Amino acid sequence: MAAILEVKHVDKRFGAVHALNDVSLAVEEGETLALVGENGAGKSTLVKILTGVNQKDKGELFFLGQKTELKSAMESRNLGIAQVYQQAELIPELTVAENIFLGDMSVYQGGLLSWKTLFKKTGELLKKYNIAVNPHARVKSLNVATQQLVAIAKVLLQQPKLVVFDEPTAVLSDNEVKILFDIINKLKAEHTTIIYISHRLEEIFTICNRVAVMRDGRLITVLENKNLTKADLIMHMLGKKLEAMFPEKDIGHEDEVALELKNVSTAKVTDISLKLMKGEILGITGLVGSGRTELARAIYGLDRIKSGEIRIGGERVRLRDTLDASKRGIFLAPEDRKGEALVLIRPIRENITLSNLKTISKSFFCNAKKEKALVEKLRGDLNIKADTMNRPVLSLSGGNQQKVVVAKAITARPKILIFDEPTQGIDVGAKFEIYTLLNKLKKDGLSIIVISSEIEEVQGLCNRIVVMRQGKIAGEINGNVEDTESILNLMYRSEAV
Ligand SMILES: Nc1ncnc2c1ncn2[C@@H]1O[C@H](COP(=O)(O)OP(=O)(O)OP(=O)(O)O)[C@@H](O)[C@H]1O
Ligand SMILES: [Mg+2]
Repeated sequence: MAAILEVKHVDKRFGAVHALNDVSLAVEEGETLALVGENGAGKSTLVKILTGVNQKDKGELFFLGQKTELKSAMESRNLGIAQVYQQAELIPELTVAENIFLGDMSVYQGGLLSWKTLFKKTGELLKKYNIAVNPHARVKSLNVATQQLVAIAKVLLQQPKLVVFDEPTAVLSDNEVKILFDIINKLKAEHTTIIYISHRLEEIFTICNRVAVMRDGRLITVLENKNLTKADLIMHMLGKKLEAMFPEKDIGHEDEVALELKNVSTAKVTDISLKLMKGEILGITGLVGSGRTELARAIYGLDRIKSGEIRIGGERVRLRDTLDASKRGIFLAPEDRKGEALVLIRPIRENITLSNLKTISKSFFCNAKKEKALVEKLRGDLNIKADTMNRPVLSLSGGNQQKVVVAKAITARPKILIFDEPTQGIDVGAKFEIYTLLNKLKKDGLSIIVISSEIEEVQGLCNRIVVMRQGKIAGEINGNVEDTESILNLMYRSEAV
């Protein structure tokens, strides 16, 4: 098969960081090539060079046999190379249709935008790829998963020859992943070449022909998917064997109820009743849009409670805002790290220590030395890849940014910790470290809620899993959490009717 793209001896540095070290790779026309490696290995940097977002320092690029420089995103797009980013980059105030056709002249007639054509064409495009979203909806009203599908539609509009997916599923649940895979299968049938980056290894086994492994800026090897095992792949990625995906589970908890919700309703969730024990990790799963994130928002004082009550340590509380919630010892690490969790332009150190609790309860960090030691410890435990903690979060790779979200939550040391998709975009090795830290916090008596689209994640961490569906609790699995079928039944039940 002919190579559609050849990368020869490409090198890239960001200051002291050697992001790409003499990378050579040939991508065959029509194949789906996976790109894997630990957080900070250089995957996004490599594909950003292909899409003209980053410029290489050294090396050569060939597209369809022609040497090319790819000096700008426009040049790359004109050649037929397109990218779906790690997090959707859309304009929140505009509608789905406007976002998709932004900059596309085909919806203009006589120099004027034809709204009719715009919405009609958007409808057709979304239908072709089975994306169920209203073209008139404003992007800010959509959840992150739906935004991601809109971003993909925008890319497909250009009918690219090569599509790069950089962790498209980090915020998707199984249902949306299925939609995405249908889209990818359509692209494959059209003989479109795909480069697919993901930390979810099962996905790679499902859709890719070959797997290119990167480590510390180098391309280590390219493997055929056939006959490849997960253990082998992890070994190539980490350069060592990973004994287990999860640390040993500790299912005990104290008898005290840390948090209780009684018939809580907000604009988005209805009649939620649940208990979280002291020293417990409770799992919450469900489809995207089932109300998991909205439940977290209610507990954190972000959404107004219309009826029902919240009790913390037995006492009824009213949480009018996040400050109230923080005062009561609640902390939320949200799923949208760019929008809510981090101040990207500020240093890593500041992001980690900048938590509401700090200003309220000064005793947590009485001295700066202690604080520094804690930050350094978390950097080591989570293996945050940065030469100094004074760099802006913006300069970190996606997975390392997510580690900062986790570090920030841990530093806050609240009594009740809610993690919404804590390991999105995090590599398998670092996931294990995060799970170990969560178990440790649990042992210290913290009460933790883990919201995850990955059923395996809540199964590996929790002894109790609450399943949400259409804004309500569909059911709870207690003890027998390995029973995946029961979880799936609860997730989908009404949709089958
Ligand atoms: N704009 C930038 N400025 C400074 N350093 C950067 C910049 N972009 C990337 N880096 C550094 O380059 C290295 C490679 O980052 P890259 O984003 O390519 O990793 P990745 O393999 O995509 O990781 P992840 O799985 O976490 O997304 C990292 O050490 C990162 O901090
Ligand atoms: Mg990346």
